[in-house]
Amino acid sequence: MAVPLRVAVLISGRGSNLQALIDAFGPKVADSPVKIALVLSNRPDAPGLERAAKAGLKTEIVDHKAFQSREDFDVAVDREIRAAGAAFVVMAGFMRLLTAQFVTTWKDKLVNIHPALLPSFPGLHTHKRALEAGVRFHGATVHFVRQDTDSGPIIAQSLVAVRPDDTEETLAARVLESEHRLYPLALRLIAQGQVQVEGERVTVSGATRCPETVLLNPMPPMA
Ligand code: GRF
Repeated sequence: MAVPLRVAVLISGRGSNLQALIDAFGPKVADSPVKIALVLSNRPDAPGLERAAKAGLKTEIVDHKAFQSREDFDVAVDREIRAAGAAFVVMAGFMRLLTAQFVTTWKDKLVNIHPALLPSFPGLHTHKRALEAGVRFHGATVHFVRQDTDSGPIIAQSLVAVRPDDTEETLAARVLESEHRLYPLALRLIAQGQVQVEGERVTVSGATRCPETVLLNPMPPMA
């Protein structure tokens, strides 16, 4: 078994994606290709911290309010990541903009999950905006992080069909469920060395499959 990839997971809130990563790669999982070396939150009250503690993971709080500048905050975050021996950083609902220095230091070793099919709908309120735009498909994206908000080479995406009666809440729930399948998949591919960044595009090597079906939404009537 190869040495597992040691990752730090950065959170700010409920941590349901963190939970999906714990379920896939946590201490109870034998021969995991990923080891969660640290769960770091910028918010002392993030419910995700409890999930981490319950799983027996190391946690740290770096409260952004205690810092004068974004630079100082990022330096403190960087220090904790390195102290935990992590070689890779996974943002899972981490609601802070990172400095150019941090993003450059962790280039191609820093990933994020965004609840939309990037490059559509970067930023906040993605489900509301998708409904307003009338798109027929929505979803989520795991990507390497670059300086612009929610930009960077795309690693994997999940596709969620929008239903005519969807509300922001129902659509958000299905996208979130898809995220919980997508993030472990993407991280596994990375940990197994199957993900290469070439310029601003990602190629995935090895035994991966690609869906063959063309999806139409709405669907044609049944014959
Ligand atoms: C997810 O929708 C993720 O895509 C976005 O923030 C949300 C975090 O949710 N970046 P959780 O804390 O993982 O439950």
